[in-house]
Amino acid sequence: MKPRDLLDDLERRAELGGGAERLERQHAAGKMTARERIDLLFDPGTFEELDKLVTHRCRDFGMADQIVPGDGVVAGHGLIDGRQVFAFAQDFTVFGGSLSETNAAKIVKIMDLAMKLGSPIVGLNDSGGARIQEGVVSLAGYADIFLRNTLASGVVPQISAIMGPCAGGAVYSPAITDFTLMVKNTSYMFVTGPDVLKTVTHEEVSKEELGGAMTHNATSGVAHFAADDDRECLALVRDLLSYLPSNNLEDAPRRRTSDPPDREEAALDRLVPTLPNQPYDMLDLIHAVADEGRFLEVHEHYARNLIVGFARLDGRSVGIVANQPAVLAGTLDIAASVKGARFVRCCDAFNVPLVTFEDVPGFLPGTVQEYGGIIKHGAKLLFAFAEATVPKVTVITRKAYGGAYCVMSSKHVRTDFNYAWPTAELAVMGPEGAVNILYKRELDLAADPSAARAEKVEEFREKFANPYVAASRGYLDEIIHPRETRRKLITALRNLEGKRDNNPPKKHGNIPL
Ligand code: HXC
Repeated sequence: MKPRDLLDDLERRAELGGGAERLERQHAAGKMTARERIDLLFDPGTFEELDKLVTHRCRDFGMADQIVPGDGVVAGHGLIDGRQVFAFAQDFTVFGGSLSETNAAKIVKIMDLAMKLGSPIVGLNDSGGARIQEGVVSLAGYADIFLRNTLASGVVPQISAIMGPCAGGAVYSPAITDFTLMVKNTSYMFVTGPDVLKTVTHEEVSKEELGGAMTHNATSGVAHFAADDDRECLALVRDLLSYLPSNNLEDAPRRRTSDPPDREEAALDRLVPTLPNQPYDMLDLIHAVADEGRFLEVHEHYARNLIVGFARLDGRSVGIVANQPAVLAGTLDIAASVKGARFVRCCDAFNVPLVTFEDVPGFLPGTVQEYGGIIKHGAKLLFAFAEATVPKVTVITRKAYGGAYCVMSSKHVRTDFNYAWPTAELAVMGPEGAVNILYKRELDLAADPSAARAEKVEEFREKFANPYVAASRGYLDEIIHPRETRRKLITALRNLEGKRDNNPPKKHGNIPL
């Protein structure tokens, strides 16, 4: 064969992956091929593939006769919204996308380049895990990737899209990365699948129940996003990257917006109900203040009592953390604390300012929470907010009770601007709880205990259930009208643009894991 024909032949074989029949099976399962995914992920015509002709070196189990150029992974770099991004896409048609020594080396090569160049890394995962025929060599390849995932954490954004079955080692790399997206009905993540489980523990469970997209989005919290199909998943990856800088030394790109920075929303003046225990939807506030009402919610289906996600304010990317009074009254439980802590640390690592909307009656009490370790998990959120040095702005809409007041980006944990609406209540606990403790004996002896309690509750509410004591101490910088929240936040963020703050030099902190 002439040299050029040989090259054409090798490239054609690389592009055919596991062959026409397997590619057809991939489509029949509702999945795109690795190359189709890469094409959709990047700006058209910008992807440069590396190591297209790499082959595996395994000679056991008849593998010498099964050599596919590229060895089951498409790796390289290209542009997303004009910015350089490195990516790999596992090809399920080649040995089930399993990870071989050479396949791992390709992924390691782009990770090393991405680190040197300060560019994000996107993994499109569709893999049966370690390539069984290669044994420990394949495990070594995984460990090489895990090490780089760990070293790259907080340096460049790392995003994992799960776009097929991912078993064994294939789930641990995504778990270390910043965000995991899953495709509904076609993607699965498990340490080991239902068949092994049945043998080992006699537990019978479907693939979907064990590790489907909604299992990990709603129950385990392992995944942050659930997409309807491959196309939506890849669009989400692009959208997510638009809120993040390319690396920890840059700021996220600023977007032009036609949304006026001084836009007022009169409806916000009526958002908080008159009755203190009546719920309302905190998402209404987020949508009302964000540029063009756009909010990319992270972990939408998990721990819904706390909302986290990205928005823009006058074109600047911000991370929003907000209690949700419409779910569990907005209390902080274990899941919400961990969810919030991880998001806060991600924003802090990548210079994304934090905006906190607060309406929290406290940590969720009870044996389930205590036995589960709410103390250490709640402390994670406290640690994360206290450690964060990015610009921080807080708006208290209603309740800020107890420890949760301190935790939720209070002035005392170095928050730059703390605002409250006139409806805010800052206290150690709600009036009813406080009166029951403070006046227990007195109320028991009263001629009319319920009238006496009502009187005390009212007295307590008047004294503490408002923002003015905190404002008189300087714990709140300003009481603002709800309608002007967007303008106040944008002004605050503009003023904080040059903020510099540091933590004491140390190897690393010891966050309560
Ligand atoms: C080599 C593999 C493979 C693997 C799948 N294949 N997994 N080849 N190594 N790990 C091959 C199959 O032989 C088959 O080849 C093709 O990929 C498609 O697989 P199917 O089973 O036909 O597909 P499907 O029914 O969709 O099931 C997909 C699957 C299943 C759920 C991923 O294949 C599976 O359970 N695989 C093994 C998962 C696993 O236990 N992996 C090892 C984990 S240990 P043909 O030629 O027929 O197309 C691990 C350790 C790392 O990863 C630990 C680090 C911490």
